[in-house]
Amino acid sequence: MMIYLDNSATTQPHPEVLETYMKVSSQYFGNPSSLHTLGMESEALLTKARQMMAEYLEVKPKEVIFTSGGTEGNNLAIKGTAVARRNRGKHLITTEVEHASAYETFKELESLGYQVTYLPVDQNGEISVSDLENAIVPDTILVSIIHVNNETGVIQPIEEVGEVLRRYPHVRFHVDHVQGATKVPLPIKKANIDLCTLSAHKFHGMKGTGLLYVKEGVRLFPLLHGGVQEQKLRAGTENVAGAVAMAKAYRIEMEQSKQGKACLTRLHSQLVHGLEKMEDVEINSPKTDAAYHIVNFSIPNTKPEVIIQSFAAKNIYVSTKSACSSKLAEPSRVLLAMGLNEERASSAIRISLSFQNTEEEIDIFLKELKQLILGVTRIKG
Ligand SMILES: Cc1ncc(COP(=O)(O)O)c(C=O)c1O
Repeated sequence: MMIYLDNSATTQPHPEVLETYMKVSSQYFGNPSSLHTLGMESEALLTKARQMMAEYLEVKPKEVIFTSGGTEGNNLAIKGTAVARRNRGKHLITTEVEHASAYETFKELESLGYQVTYLPVDQNGEISVSDLENAIVPDTILVSIIHVNNETGVIQPIEEVGEVLRRYPHVRFHVDHVQGATKVPLPIKKANIDLCTLSAHKFHGMKGTGLLYVKEGVRLFPLLHGGVQEQKLRAGTENVAGAVAMAKAYRIEMEQSKQGKACLTRLHSQLVHGLEKMEDVEINSPKTDAAYHIVNFSIPNTKPEVIIQSFAAKNIYVSTKSACSSKLAEPSRVLLAMGLNEERASSAIRISLSFQNTEEEIDIFLKELKQLILGVTRIKG
């Protein structure tokens, strides 16, 4: 039996999502820009997918820009704002705990002459809203914050930040909602968000699909120029099957979340209680106010890659930090930012759940972890 506990890296596409993807790909393969019936049918499907996503997110269809996923959404929101508003100011605010697709984008913008403030976090991984307000200067054009952290599950106070930013209407507000979507609610309009990134493969959709919410009237400089697709914000023939599959995946997840949330909360406490009982384990995710689908812990003096391979040999899949940087043998930037020492930040394991996981799986995982710690792979300091 495979036990998959790496759902923040990616999820398995839902069977119905795959079916939809294949059906649209094979039967409605026309280019939505083509003027004939095949093209019009594809365009109608794309319009429907946009309407559905807009309805689920409680925004307008024209505010939904389909993208290739989270990395593109974050890049488009951040670089797109930086370039479009460069004559207004060159100061940007973000945090020390962003996903690489936002963090590295800011680093690159610094090399182009933008000034970036990276807000620190406390030991629970949270930014301070007053720090954020203090960082705003007349030159500030963008605040970009991750909603649910992909390594620790820490939830940032997005609604409070949005409230503060009402007093600074010249500052755009972008939220990386990639790990929160379908798991931790985010009222986009109420939170005063201008730009919001989602990625479908994190909620059982297809890889290479996602969307960026762009509030009506918010200007961006596109990353891709060419045709007039996606209101000229993202040129290129649309991935109709991917967009339709994303809408399907979102709907299925929201339906499952009605019961699944209670179940995930139970799995989360089962996991945390089990880990707390293990002497050699230190839990890095905060005990309260964190998302219930991500738990991060360290086993100091062990190499996480050894633990991961030992688990994989038993058909159990977990990860170190975020999948994109897990091949780098460096301590986690996110855990260091929370004030954890290098040893702890270098020996972290991340468990990430989906609505499909069961109590039995968590039991097996905890038993195997105990065994692993007891000996086999322990590499003493
Ligand atoms: C918080 C966060 N933002 C952005 C991304 C990038 O998304 P994608 O893999 O769709 O490019 C990820 C994926 O790991 C993520 O966890």
